[in-house]
Amino acid sequence: MPGHIAVIMDGNGRWAEQRGLPKYKGHEAGMDAMIEIVRHASDIGVKHLTVYAFSTENWKRSMEEVSGIFQLLIVYVNRELGELHRNGVCVDVLGDWTPFSKPVTAALNRTIELTKDNTGLRFHIALNYGSRAEILTAAKKLAETEGFQDIDEAGFAKLLYTGDTPDPDLLIRPGGEQRISNFLLWQTAYSELVFSEVLWPDYTPQELDKAIGAFAARKRRYGGR
Ligand code: FPP
Repeated sequence: MPGHIAVIMDGNGRWAEQRGLPKYKGHEAGMDAMIEIVRHASDIGVKHLTVYAFSTENWKRSMEEVSGIFQLLIVYVNRELGELHRNGVCVDVLGDWTPFSKPVTAALNRTIELTKDNTGLRFHIALNYGSRAEILTAAKKLAETEGFQDIDEAGFAKLLYTGDTPDPDLLIRPGGEQRISNFLLWQTAYSELVFSEVLWPDYTPQELDKAIGAFAARKRRYGGR
């Protein structure tokens, strides 16, 4: 069983397009898929789940789509926070919070505060996240630290948004594309990659089980023999 699963939730737009629906509806269906995956990951004992919910590049989309996604985040928190807490899920957010509106910041703070002592699934939401920006921010922090010449890889990793979180064992990208899209570049150095044609809103717990099955069949060598 992978201890840490990371997911690029891709394909919401195409899912909506195929149905003649506005993009927002695709993200709404994507949120429903995410809820099921979080529930399942928690049920089967995954320790860490990281989802790519909004990238630093996603600001290029229409204002309607961007504000729709953040609106959904608030809907998500209002609807799911109780259940997440009851299930012992601990939520945190990876990314730059600076541009978030007050209601978004408040919803995130409420979620983090309520769930911070939970010991079940650690659910990491990458929001306004970009891996290069993350590494650059860490490098700048490091440059201001005394004795920075002595830092090792583990020490540097602690400066990233992911902090002490172990690296993903498995990175899943549904939606038919096979690229990393500026997601966890440092952390996925040795992750197993599993791609799927299924669009994210159609991604089910059974699909996740399939990906875990593919992972279990891989031989991880970390560069050794
Ligand atoms: C990528 O699909 C998906 C996103 C940019 C947004 C992901 C957001 C959610 C699943 C909403 C729920 C999340 C939270 C935290 C409330 P795309 O739109 O790029 O798909 P496309 O490639 O088919 O256009």
